[in-house]
Amino acid sequence: MKSYSIAVIGGDGTGPEVVRESIKVLDATAKKFNLKLNYHHYDLGGERYLRTKEALPDSVVAELRKFPVILLGAIGHPEVKPGILEKGILLRLRFELEQYINLRPVKLYDARFCPLKDKKPEDIDFVVVRENNEGLYTGAGGFVYKGTPNEVAIQESVNTRRGVERCLRFAFDFTRKRNRAKKLTLSGKTNVLTYAFDLWERAFHEIGQKDYPDIKRDYAHVDATTMWFVKNPEWFDVIVTDNMFGDIITDLGAMIQGGMGIAAGGNINPEGASMFEPIGGSAPKYTGQNVINPLAAICAGQMLLDFLGETQAAQAIETAVIKVAREKLKNLAAGRMGCSTTQVGDLVAATV
Ligand code: IPM
Ligand code: MN
Repeated sequence: MKSYSIAVIGGDGTGPEVVRESIKVLDATAKKFNLKLNYHHYDLGGERYLRTKEALPDSVVAELRKFPVILLGAIGHPEVKPGILEKGILLRLRFELEQYINLRPVKLYDARFCPLKDKKPEDIDFVVVRENNEGLYTGAGGFVYKGTPNEVAIQESVNTRRGVERCLRFAFDFTRKRNRAKKLTLSGKTNVLTYAFDLWERAFHEIGQKDYPDIKRDYAHVDATTMWFVKNPEWFDVIVTDNMFGDIITDLGAMIQGGMGIAAGGNINPEGASMFEPIGGSAPKYTGQNVINPLAAICAGQMLLDFLGETQAAQAIETAVIKVAREKLKNLAAGRMGCSTTQVGDLVAATV
């Protein structure tokens, strides 16, 4: 029997509720596929921060580093100033654990869930590979003359050849392994960000030409990318982009696949501790009401098993999610599913 250790961070708001359902489904799947999953729960988030004034102790980072995978609910608390928990927990883990890829599949499971007219599941099935350790997210920059009329605020986008290259290589490999249209689209802004995206574009073509001749290379400006997401999402197979653009376009991606109730992502360090999460926030107004959709967290669990190499078990979760979403749910939005959070978890667990 294969055994895996999983660190669990329920986090804030509805995070613990959706993680509970994800674990319910993971356990049902583990039973069926003869796996042993050992959970280690970590109390991190706004409540702990308010209690201790510490977002994430160094000792916890050191412990988390030792796990192959981490399951995260959500980070963000209405009584904590925006930025403290996001930077102090989520971004710190992404950076310190070198989770340099943020992998975000955009897949429509039922035409009913898509806000776009006439788009069907076969039209919306692509993956965004978001660089997750650099760009505008490094915190490089600062203020000069803060609080005066001469104030200057600078926020720099950091793009290193090493960081860009490892992201591109991951994206090329992923496109090859996915084996669909074998097309990788670089989404950037070469017409304005003439330093950052010059590096990205050069590296993209150099690496592609030399090591991935079987993968078609395509380029789209990020603004045009959002247009195609709405007009022709079927054009995409895999998209690779920087941290900030990846953040923005994957919210739009989540909406065309049915919203935050279903969108999951993985913060991946191919050689280290990777962290899987629903991409939506902590949803304070739905907290504790048993109305939030746990499918995104359940899909994060699916990605986690896939990352561990348990492909069949992961596939079983996806198949069950599709069946439950299609046959049992009225809607994917919180409070409008026609089922409670726990019922959705029960349904998927009974279907895997
Ligand atoms: C996301 C979120 C985070 C990000 C925030 C909470 C820091 O929006 O995971 O997409 O910007 O990456
Ligand atoms: Mn985001």
